[in-house]
Amino acid sequence: MKTRITDLFDIRYPIIQGGMHYVGYAELASAVSSAGGLGIITGLTQPTPEDLAREIARCREMTDKPFGVNLTFLPAFTAPPYPEYIRAIIEGGVKIVETAGRNPEQYMGQLKAAGIKVIHKCTSVRHALKAEKIGCDAVSVDGFECGGHPGEDDIPNMILLPRAAEELSVPFVASGGMADARSLVAALALGADGMNMGTRFIATKEAPVHENVKKALVEASELETRLIMRPLRNTERVLNNAAVERILEIERQKGGGVGIDDIRPLVAGTQNRKVLQEGEMDAGAWSCGMVAGLIHDIPTVKELIDRIVSEAQAIIRKRLEGMLAA
Ligand SMILES: Cc1cc2nc3c(=O)[nH]c(=O)nc-3n(C[C@H](O)[C@H](O)[C@H](O)COP(=O)(O)O)c2cc1C
Repeated sequence: MKTRITDLFDIRYPIIQGGMHYVGYAELASAVSSAGGLGIITGLTQPTPEDLAREIARCREMTDKPFGVNLTFLPAFTAPPYPEYIRAIIEGGVKIVETAGRNPEQYMGQLKAAGIKVIHKCTSVRHALKAEKIGCDAVSVDGFECGGHPGEDDIPNMILLPRAAEELSVPFVASGGMADARSLVAALALGADGMNMGTRFIATKEAPVHENVKKALVEASELETRLIMRPLRNTERVLNNAAVERILEIERQKGGGVGIDDIRPLVAGTQNRKVLQEGEMDAGAWSCGMVAGLIHDIPTVKELIDRIVSEAQAIIRKRLEGMLAA
């Protein structure tokens, strides 16, 4: 396939695996890149910049194809040492960075001077335009359906993507709710140049997470995600479990007065890790998209990507073309 995204990142298919905390290790990123997509290592899952340097080296041994690193700019009191993480990325020879969270403007100079292409993930047209203005090469437009942080505007991709297409000049990919060939063709039809998937890639053989997590994704329907931290304006879409019900209960009880300290033990990274890595499915909240309802199997990454590409071709050539002929 050929789109502005395959050209920009020198990849075979316009399919990106978004950064995922405690999921985006070298095993998954290299599998996606080797299968023709763009795999992304999650920078901050690595405890230190030195660990990230080792993870990049490990990924390079596992694939000879381009891969990227995600840098999530968090609203934290003590910020991680971002310049040092960026140095690890540059010295590791990585040429693609997915930024997310806060505006990456203050780091753009360092990234661009190293010849790195930046794709910024955001949840609104105004943030996408800002990303374009500060020099991002592409944007990942994350609709309300997405796993993780959908922002506070609640605009689903059926509206958000064509709106982005109306306003943006740089290429963009559709993110949130993308699962299969139908998603890819729809994303292209709505004006995107490809798609970014998070949740779908967790239910693959190579994803280095506990089997219980993959099983939970196959079993979950589209009705089973919940939005937590709305009162904190840090909304996160997660799969429902005992911890999430407790969080929602606390939010209901405390109303507008709820603070992060009230729910911290249930949303902490340690609990997130316990779910994803140790399979303790009620240990804490973990990001998951509505797309869980479209996940019915656990293929290899290559099987998943090959299936998406071949079925997308069939949809375009047979189903859509056929409708024109009729
Ligand atoms: C378990 C999980 C962890 C995630 N962690 C991050 C993260 O650390 N940084 C980030 O930018 N996005 C993160 N995301 C968001 C994904 O990169 C992607 O934008 C999102 O999953 C797309 O929606 P989908 O799940 O419907 O495909 C995470 C998503 C999931 C499901």
